Amino acid sequence: MQGQEHSEAVTLMGLGDWVRSHSCGTLRREHAGQHLTLMGWVDGCRDHGGLVFVDLRDRTGVVQVVFDPARGPEAFAVAEALRNESVVGVRGVLTERSPDTVNPNIPTGEVELVATEARLLNCSRPLPFALDAAGEVAEAIRLKYRYLDLRRPQVQQRFLFRHRLAKAVRDYLDSEGFLELETPFLTRSTPEGARDYLVPSRVNPGKFYALPQSPQLFKQLFMVSGFDRYFQIVRCFRDEDLRADRQPEFTQIDLEMSFARPEDVMGITEGILRVACALAGVEFPDTVRRLSYEEAIARYGIDRPDLRFGLELTDVSDAVRTTEFKVFRSALDAGGIVKVLRLPEGERLSRRELDGLPAIVGPFGAKGVAWVRLQSDGWQSPIAKFLSGQEKAAIEQSCGAQVGDLLLFLADSPKVANESLAHLRLHLAQQLQLIPPNRWEFVWVTDFPLVEWDNDEQRYVAVHHPFTAPREEDWDRLEADPSKVKALAYDIVLNGTELGGGSIRIHRPDIQERVFRLLGISEEEAREKFGFLLEALSYGAPPHGGIALGFDRLVMLLTGAQSLRDVIAFPKTQKATCLLTNAPSEVDAKQLRELGIKIAV
Ligand code: AMO
Ligand code: AMP
Repeated sequence: MQGQEHSEAVTLMGLGDWVRSHSCGTLRREHAGQHLTLMGWVDGCRDHGGLVFVDLRDRTGVVQVVFDPARGPEAFAVAEALRNESVVGVRGVLTERSPDTVNPNIPTGEVELVATEARLLNCSRPLPFALDAAGEVAEAIRLKYRYLDLRRPQVQQRFLFRHRLAKAVRDYLDSEGFLELETPFLTRSTPEGARDYLVPSRVNPGKFYALPQSPQLFKQLFMVSGFDRYFQIVRCFRDEDLRADRQPEFTQIDLEMSFARPEDVMGITEGILRVACALAGVEFPDTVRRLSYEEAIARYGIDRPDLRFGLELTDVSDAVRTTEFKVFRSALDAGGIVKVLRLPEGERLSRRELDGLPAIVGPFGAKGVAWVRLQSDGWQSPIAKFLSGQEKAAIEQSCGAQVGDLLLFLADSPKVANESLAHLRLHLAQQLQLIPPNRWEFVWVTDFPLVEWDNDEQRYVAVHHPFTAPREEDWDRLEADPSKVKALAYDIVLNGTELGGGSIRIHRPDIQERVFRLLGISEEEAREKFGFLLEALSYGAPPHGGIALGFDRLVMLLTGAQSLRDVIAFPKTQKATCLLTNAPSEVDAKQLRELGIKIAV
């Protein structure tokens, strides 16, 4: 029932001297006989021949309140004026329900409050959408009225979990000797690979602060200060293209430790995840699996593999090294690879679905997908006639193919082939429902390269960030063979989502300078942007390392939410806008003048 504004016959009252004695959802049989004062929202009301029944809701749940003119005539008059979402205070006696009126569907179903007094505290206009049908309401409407969307019990549950998790993480890290220390929001740019949000400085015309993409440099400075073990549950800001698992402002569980090896940081991280999983009723493994970056790319085409299902990839380039099939030949000649995804029970994919595959990998730059059905009488495939018997046998052998399998081939540069097949792998798993529910596959990905060549920028860029330490045994190769240098970096991945990433840091100014040079950051630029870091490292910086976990992502996965927007109280849309406040917005000409800013577009 949608509410209407209350009748004018009943006046609004203040709280007066009323004090709430209990929360609605906590009432049980053992409270029967007590005089209570409850406050909350009207979740629904029913008029039953002289009695009014009201479901009273607060964030702990719903309890039934009975208004009987014989027990409280004034309260009854208030009840008759109540509408959905009215705010009301009620006093009365909690009473056991007779067996035939018990409601087994709610935890308070064995009791009801028999009202003797009531105060209408506020009324509500009809809501723009019914709370119990909000699931079907367009997200844009729910975000515009987010404060109403947040009234829904299912939604509130996720925020209750979020709160509990933050508290449990704090308690755990405190017990491990970590201090929660704050770092500035108005600061200089800290490169994490996204664009910065800038804030103009009024008192320093023409100058800007950057909101931190992470507290990376400050947490390192804490180590130089000797704080030893730091953490923070902290907001970070990144101006990047948004997706379901990316928001422009988001929260990290950020930590840093001195005198730490990768194992030490990974151990603390597993401790956090163990606490989180216990809270969510999710099983956490005794030991978390590990994959090197190289192995992750080889087997899954991606550095955040979803290990809940198989469908592994195989590089079959060697099997077709001398082939004359032009599609494979031209890829190999251009320095590319030929890679196969093997799908057992391949008949589950129809011919029409096969014809649709190129469109699925097209966005990743792939020019096509070749397929083979392995039948007892040989290959059924549009490319069968282009390959020799020997090549076919070598392919089958290298990917362990069996009769009944479908093989999907991608021939291209390693980057395009891997990205396309990684996406295809996920697509097929979803389409064919190969992902078992309630499976939680954590994996550490380690041994990342320190840098990769960026063709657009024509320089090496950091795979993690420029403060990540190379392995000690690779220090000599920094200039001679940078692409072979491995980083002391590690990512924790859950069900194909990157939950967190971290590394041991460079703690010596000379190595940091060499890495800046490798990244094409001139000495002048390094001094200008990171001089304070280089200087700090020169005053006895201890070896140190850390990690940051995406707190919103962790809450999203553990609560089964589909999007970060479901676990952030006031999230932004895909276009980085807030539909509730209409941020971002234009500002006064006066404000702009004060800041010395002219809008050019
Ligand atoms: P990184 O950039 O990998 O590392 O970030 C750590 C984790 O933060 C989460 N995350 C995000 N969550 C929501 N929306 C976003 N836009 C977003 N971007 C990142 C991810 C990610 O794994 N300073 C380093 C950590 C370190 O080296 O200690 C850092 O920020 O879950
Ligand atoms: P074509 O000779 O271009 O018609 O290609 C022959 C087969 O190879 C078709 O089934 C194409 O879909 C497939 N194909 C085309 N390009 C690629 C590629 N880069 N990798 C794998 N298969 C491809």
